[in-house]
Amino acid sequence: MLSLCIQVFAVLVICAADTEKRDISYTFRTWNMVDQRLQEQLAVVYKEMESLKNEQVVMKQKQEALSQALPYCSQKPIDTDVEMNLTSLQTGSSHQLYTLTQGEDGVEGSGEDDSGADLDPCFHYTVLDQAWRATNYSTKNVACDNRVQWKGWYRLFYRGKTIQMPERCVRKEMCGTHAPLWLVGGHPRVRDGVVTRKVCGNWRDNCCLFKSPPIQVKACRGNYYVYKFVKPVACHLAYCADINTLVCGKCKKSESCVSRDKITWLCKKNQMRVKANIHFFATYPANISGKVNKIVYRKVYVNQGGAFDSRSGIFRAPVSGVYQFFFSTQTGGSGETVLWLVVNNYWVAVSQSNVQGSNSVGNLSTYMTTLRKGATVYVTHNRGRSWANSASNTIAFGGSLLMVRKI
Ligand SMILES: *[C@@H]1O[C@H](CO)[C@@H](O)[C@H](O)[C@H]1NC(C)=O
Ligand SMILES: *[C@@H]1O[C@H](CO)[C@@H](O)[C@H](O)[C@H]1NC(C)=O
Ligand SMILES: *[C@@H]1O[C@H](CO)[C@@H](O)[C@H](O)[C@H]1NC(C)=O
Ligand SMILES: *[C@@H]1O[C@H](CO)[C@@H](O)[C@H](O)[C@H]1NC(C)=O
Repeated sequence: MLSLCIQVFAVLVICAADTEKRDISYTFRTWNMVDQRLQEQLAVVYKEMESLKNEQVVMKQKQEALSQALPYCSQKPIDTDVEMNLTSLQTGSSHQLYTLTQGEDGVEGSGEDDSGADLDPCFHYTVLDQAWRATNYSTKNVACDNRVQWKGWYRLFYRGKTIQMPERCVRKEMCGTHAPLWLVGGHPRVRDGVVTRKVCGNWRDNCCLFKSPPIQVKACRGNYYVYKFVKPVACHLAYCADINTLVCGKCKKSESCVSRDKITWLCKKNQMRVKANIHFFATYPANISGKVNKIVYRKVYVNQGGAFDSRSGIFRAPVSGVYQFFFSTQTGGSGETVLWLVVNNYWVAVSQSNVQGSNSVGNLSTYMTTLRKGATVYVTHNRGRSWANSASNTIAFGGSLLMVRKI
């Protein structure tokens, strides 16, 4: 196992060494099958990689053996959480295949004869790092992806940096081919899983003159995509790498790469996923007399989401959305008692009662409104007398967020 590993590594070094500057002619020759010697050499690498891939599955199940054996191969200590960094060997080469594996739970136990079909393509893909695929690369060579034996999933790189397919029509004679292939309908989101997308080739002023077979695409955590490329309809068509999406490789985990025009791309912070669980209920456990600017409901029964401040009596909307409030009192003596609900310092609803003598009535008012994040809500005791004790809960204030909504 170990000797195979070292052998393969040696072959790769030979291949990689002469590719840096001459990648165009190199791939050109390979793809036209002119250079038999190179072709044979590649076939050997290909075969070796296949067997290495199988070896890796076995090795994976023996984590102990893996961590001991691999440092000889990669000349680096292995951290199972880190991708095997073989991209540096890749630059400009044609179709050397690597399955990059990441220390993912759930990979184990998938069986001895694992064909790779049920592995997450986000961690099991072939690196496709060919500078000529870039949208700013004109036709010096004419590649034809129809001649490639596509197998499994691929991740596009540009000189070691992650890159994605163009989502718009690409000028013909770019991407190192005649009719550049672009992705119709845009890339999926992570939560979409594997999706199928149409692929079009631009030719003769028709962005979709070539309707190539659809491909599968998956968005992966960490702002990259994997593609299940298949043979395009004809020659000379080739899958493109949109040079403008190089910036996407710099997006943080909390960001997405977005573009309005599909030309200029930028990292944008992801919308916070808000849990719409905001509820509160509080009471004032004593009598109130006369004007009290803010009733400090200090007995708090519910404060889900922590948006109600029991020290100030103020509720502050933590997100924009539709809210419902209620507030109540019980009159504590002859005359008029008036309470106001105050939203953003405006009186918006009243609870008013007028009783004579020793009568007492309760009065409950409700109010529903759309609030912006940060809006404040409290209750004013405007005049009169309200009655409550620690058990009656008659002077009360509460509310709920009914739905999150952008405004
Ligand atoms: C992989 O190796 C290349 C070249 O050695 C380096 O530039 C790059 O940062 C490495 N990538 C990772 C993810 O370690
Ligand atoms: C394409 O764009 C990349 C990144 O901006 C640049 O490094 C490269 O030189 C460009 N290639 C051509 C052929 O213009
Ligand atoms: C509240 O008011 C009621 C009558 O309105 C009175 O009997 C009671 O003593 C008052 N309680 C407090 C704590 O002031
Ligand atoms: C309760 O308040 C409302 C609104 O101010 C008022 O119309 C109603 O008469 C009050 N109910 C009682 C029993 O006082």
